[in-house]
Amino acid sequence: MLYIGIDLGTSATKLLLMDEDGKILNIVSKGYPIEFPHPGWSEQDPRDWWEAVLAGVPELLEGHDASQVAGIGCGGQMHGLVVLDANDEVIRPCILWNDGRTTKQVSYLNDVVGRDKLSAWTANIAFAGFTAPKLLWMRDEEPELFARIDKIMLPKDYVNYRLTGVHATDCSDASGMLLLDVEHRRWSPEMLDVCGVDERQLPRLFESAEPIGTVLPEVAGRLGIPAGCVVCAGAGDNAAAAVGTGAVGDGRCNISLGTSGTIFMTSKAFRVDHANALHSFDHADGGYHLMGCILSAASCNKWWVEDVLGSKDIAGEQAGIDEHAVSLQQAYFLPYLMGERSPHNDVNARGAFVGLRMDTPRAEMTRAVLEGVAFAFRDCLDIARAQGIRPESSTVCGGGAASKLWLRMLADVLGITLEVPATEQGPGYGAAMLAAVACGAYPSVEECARKLVSVRERIEPDPNMVGAYDERYQVWHGLYPALRQSYQLMAQMAQ
Ligand code: XUL
Repeated sequence: MLYIGIDLGTSATKLLLMDEDGKILNIVSKGYPIEFPHPGWSEQDPRDWWEAVLAGVPELLEGHDASQVAGIGCGGQMHGLVVLDANDEVIRPCILWNDGRTTKQVSYLNDVVGRDKLSAWTANIAFAGFTAPKLLWMRDEEPELFARIDKIMLPKDYVNYRLTGVHATDCSDASGMLLLDVEHRRWSPEMLDVCGVDERQLPRLFESAEPIGTVLPEVAGRLGIPAGCVVCAGAGDNAAAAVGTGAVGDGRCNISLGTSGTIFMTSKAFRVDHANALHSFDHADGGYHLMGCILSAASCNKWWVEDVLGSKDIAGEQAGIDEHAVSLQQAYFLPYLMGERSPHNDVNARGAFVGLRMDTPRAEMTRAVLEGVAFAFRDCLDIARAQGIRPESSTVCGGGAASKLWLRMLADVLGITLEVPATEQGPGYGAAMLAAVACGAYPSVEECARKLVSVRERIEPDPNMVGAYDERYQVWHGLYPALRQSYQLMAQMAQ
C-alpha cells in the first residue's frame, strides 16, 4: 500500500509518496504567494492550497501505481483562521499564524478576560497568531463577514474538507486555536462563549491518526487515486514533524528550523508552563507537548540572503564562515522580523543588527543572523529548563537544517546533542505515517515511529564553543529588553 503525506506550509505545499516500509518514493512541491496587506499582517487564499493539492497529487503519482494509494494525511501550518459561509465559499483570506493584527483582542483576552482563566480553560494564554483573537478581530472589524460564518477551520482542515466533505480537525492543531480544553481534548464552552462562537460552527474533533472519512468520488477521479482512499485527521505541522522525526512518547524533543522555529518537547502527561511562555498543546500520538515558537527562523536567513544581499546562494554565503572563530564575532542580530511569539509575546518587536562597525564584513552579518535565531531557540529552551525539563538531545528538521554550520551552532548554543533523521521531510513524512496508522498498517503512532524513523547523524556540542556562545548569549539576551520601549514607540508612530 502507498500513503500520501501533505505538508501544507506557508511558502509551499510539499507532497510526499511513501510505501508501507516508510520508503519515500517521490516528493513534489507547489508554491503559492503570501500577502502582507498591512505591515505585520499576513494572509493566504485557502483556494491556493487546494489548487496545489489538485496539481501536486497527479504529479506525485506519475510513474507509480496510483491504485495502491490507501491513505492521505496532512500536516498543516497552524493557527490560521479559515472561514466558510453556508454555501462553503471562503469568506475572506486566511489570517495566518504569523499575523500580528490582533493586539487589541489579545489584550482583551489576557487582561480583561484574564490570563488565569484562559490558562485554566485552555492551558494557554492569548498570542497574536492564535485563532481565537482573530475571530474577535473579525467580530470587531468585519462584523458583516463575521455574521456569515458557517464553518470555522484550520488550514489543513480546509484541504481535508475539500478531499472528504467532512468538517473535522485533530486535537494537536485545534490546541492552537485557544478554543480547546487541551487537557481534556474537547472544545472549551467558556472560550466559545467569549468568542461568540457556536460549537456547530467548529469542526468535529479527532485524534490525528483517526480516519475522518474517504476521498469524495469526483475528487478521487481528479486526483487519480482510488475512491475510498482514507483521509486521516492529520496534525498541526509541528506535531506532524515530531511524528516524522520520531519525537513521540515521553521526554523527546524536536527542533524545527523552518519558516518559523519551534522547539517541541513531548510528554505523556498533561502539563502547563506556569508562565505560559511555552504553548501547552496536545500531541498527535495521543499525549501532550510543550512548545516554544519563534516566528522567524529560516525565514530570517532567506530574508537576509535573498532580499537584502540579492543572492540565491544560501550555502555560498556560509561557505567561508569558520564556526570556531566566534571570538572575532562582534555583530548581533535580533530575529524578530514578524514580531515575536515565544517568549516575548510582542507583535511590535522588530529585527535589529547591533554592534556593527565600519569594517563589519558581510559574512559576520550572515553569521549574526544564524546565531540570533539560535539564541532565540535558547530563550525558549531556558524557560523549559527553569521548569525542570532538560532535554539532552533533540532531533532537527526543516529547511534550515540543511546547513551544517547552523546545526553545529545550534548544538553549541543550546548545549545539547542534535540528531539528524535519515528522512528530513518532517511534517510530510509524519503526515504519511499518520495515514498509514489510520489505514491499520501500524497499531499506533509510537509503533510506526519506532519502526520507520532512524537517525542519520549526531552533532555533539563542543564544550569550548558552548562557553563562548554562553558569554555572547548573555549580551544578546539584554538587547530585547533594552529595545522594547523603542519598539512600542515605533509601533505608535506607525499607526
Ligand atoms: C506554531 C506556529 C508555526 C506554524 C508554522 O505555533 O505558529 O510553527 O505552525 O507553519
